[in-house]
Amino acid sequence: MIGQPLNRVDGPLKVSGRATYAYEYWEAGQPLYGVIVGATIGKGRITRIDTEKAERSQGVHLVMTHHNAPVQGVRDESVQFEYWRAQPALTGPDIHYYGEPVALVVAATFEQARAAADLLEVEYAVGRGRFDFAADDDETYIPKVVNAGFPTDTAVGDFDAGFNAADVRVDQRYTTPYEFSMPMEPHACLVEPRGEDLTVYVASQIVDAARASVAATLRIAPERVHIVTPFVGGGFGSKLGIHAETILAALAARVLGQPVKVALTRQQIFQLVGMRPTTSQRVRLGAGRDGRLAAIAHDVTMHTNPDLEFAEQTAATTRSLYAAPHRLTSHRLTPLDLPRGSDVRAPGEAPGLLAVESAVDELAHALGMDPVELRIRNEPTIDPERDVPYSDRHLVDCLRDGARRFGWERRPTTPASLREGRWLVGYGVAAAIRGHFQGPTAVRVRLEADGTAVVQTDMTDIGTGTYTILTQVTADGLGLPADRVRVELGRSGLPSSWGSGGSWGAANSTAAAHRACAALREKLLVAALGDTRSPLHGRDPADARFADGSVHIGGASQALSEIVARSHPDGMAAEGEIRFMGDDPNYAAYSIHTYGAHFAEVGVDADTAEIRLRRMLGVFSVGRVLNAKTARSQLIGGMIWGAGAALEEEAVVDSRSGAFVNRDLAQYLVPVHADIPDVDAVILDGYDDKANLLGAKGVGELGICGAGGAVANAVFNATGLRVRDFPITIEKVL
Ligand code: MOS
Repeated sequence: MIGQPLNRVDGPLKVSGRATYAYEYWEAGQPLYGVIVGATIGKGRITRIDTEKAERSQGVHLVMTHHNAPVQGVRDESVQFEYWRAQPALTGPDIHYYGEPVALVVAATFEQARAAADLLEVEYAVGRGRFDFAADDDETYIPKVVNAGFPTDTAVGDFDAGFNAADVRVDQRYTTPYEFSMPMEPHACLVEPRGEDLTVYVASQIVDAARASVAATLRIAPERVHIVTPFVGGGFGSKLGIHAETILAALAARVLGQPVKVALTRQQIFQLVGMRPTTSQRVRLGAGRDGRLAAIAHDVTMHTNPDLEFAEQTAATTRSLYAAPHRLTSHRLTPLDLPRGSDVRAPGEAPGLLAVESAVDELAHALGMDPVELRIRNEPTIDPERDVPYSDRHLVDCLRDGARRFGWERRPTTPASLREGRWLVGYGVAAAIRGHFQGPTAVRVRLEADGTAVVQTDMTDIGTGTYTILTQVTADGLGLPADRVRVELGRSGLPSSWGSGGSWGAANSTAAAHRACAALREKLLVAALGDTRSPLHGRDPADARFADGSVHIGGASQALSEIVARSHPDGMAAEGEIRFMGDDPNYAAYSIHTYGAHFAEVGVDADTAEIRLRRMLGVFSVGRVLNAKTARSQLIGGMIWGAGAALEEEAVVDSRSGAFVNRDLAQYLVPVHADIPDVDAVILDGYDDKANLLGAKGVGELGICGAGGAVANAVFNATGLRVRDFPITIEKVL
């Protein structure tokens, strides 16, 4: 059952509209509607807010501003992870970025709330904001920490000596723009107060984080907060934590003693959930004529909000990618008065590999060497910065297999030399690597007396297929058909998990479920073998086999339903847990990653410079595959996003106001079907026994890693033009 391309078990609910999302709950009765009013300046102070007209407007129940908002908890940096901290809103008159909430207007209907919001009068003293990453870099500083706990800087060997002595050198700067997670389901929340308790229906990737964050902000005990998030319409990092919609809905619901719901508009998503920081990345590669790298340096500067520091781990991925004796990586921050940078799918690897894999292509060109061969030549035997072996590294297999499948030998070795009609045609390749994480996760599996297994954890399914893979692993673990397994997710009170994020959710939750099934099998055997009425009584448990809903020992068998009905008529349960990777010796002893190789073919119109992606192939190594269909979907989705990052995606700041000017999906371009031709993802058979007891690793973020690099390198191969300022739009290629 594990690995089979089982259709999503939640698919029928979703396509028939029966999967309920946060904004759609009606259990609480008729809710009130909140509309967030955002600042129309990027830096300064509110000098006056006149709420009177809005308050008198039809249907309005509350206009909440910093004057009357309840006192809230403060962000506590001693709480290890950002998403578990308080996220206070409307705390004072100061404006830190354009669109920051200045009021919540609550009314009986959404239309009344929106109409009243327009009546609010806000006056500002406008301050001098820093909004221009390229110009406002005087105060660039070293971050306190880099996201996910990576060291800020690393140095191995003597970079300058190694680089200066190299036969061939690449020293280039690449820039990447602000990018946003744009889930189909906007960030939304419905809060129902019940006495001291709050039920919070919210789109969230991590139940435990949402609960802790709401509780810390409202200064109530976490046990009083009940998170409900069984279905999430995409997250991509933007729902790892909660945002203003949740906090403001919760504050208003408590003040009013009534359910309140708030959703962000699509435009507000471009202001209030954080974005991938813009970067400037200097990459230096020094190699011998044989292509062997002597020196690698990756120095990254990115924007941060000064009060809400965030350093994406953009150079961290370079540390484990290629061998070279002399190495340097660094992260620096330029404070700007813009929203907080935040986790966006493959934080660090996505923009980092775009730069590094472009630079490797530049080196291949300078050497006159095939870029696949150059990468293979620099394959490390151990992790070059951590000095530990890799658990299960198959980058070279991905490169070789991909090159064969893609027909890489047809690549024109001279750029701009292959023409088909008006199209200049080029091929590109790039490598993918992504770390594997493990966090404390518990899963309970309960067998009912009717033979149904119920899997329970507060893990979420953000559209990735969690319901389905937990069904498969549990069916496999208990020898049940898949339709006898029911999965319950996304609710506080269920066994606690690390949620969906960092590509850890699938492997973590299934490994814990696998362990729960093993414990449950033990319990079933004890019950059956100890029962004198059982045909299995007195037999050897070592010979037990679980299949077809029964336990079989030798020629005898008994149905699981019967064992449970006799011994535990109310159901028999067992829990499985996995621990934090910091407490797991494998994570110290091995460098655990997933790998891939991307291949892209583009056509560039010789006259208009229109760039069309023609085909794309990714070959990946992710350990054991849990579900071939959902894994492939994840990878293809990531690859498409990577293609968009190379060619289209870019949020532009108005350097006068600090507003993102293209803050909707008409002007913030992401690939549509017409942009995406034949894309395929192939997953190599695998099993990483160091990752966990299932041998599985995550796939959600691997697909985007390096994908854009392959596209960018194909554009160079087609045209001979190297664009280092992403995205590669027409005017840069003309
Ligand atoms: Mo991911 S950016 O941790 O959802």
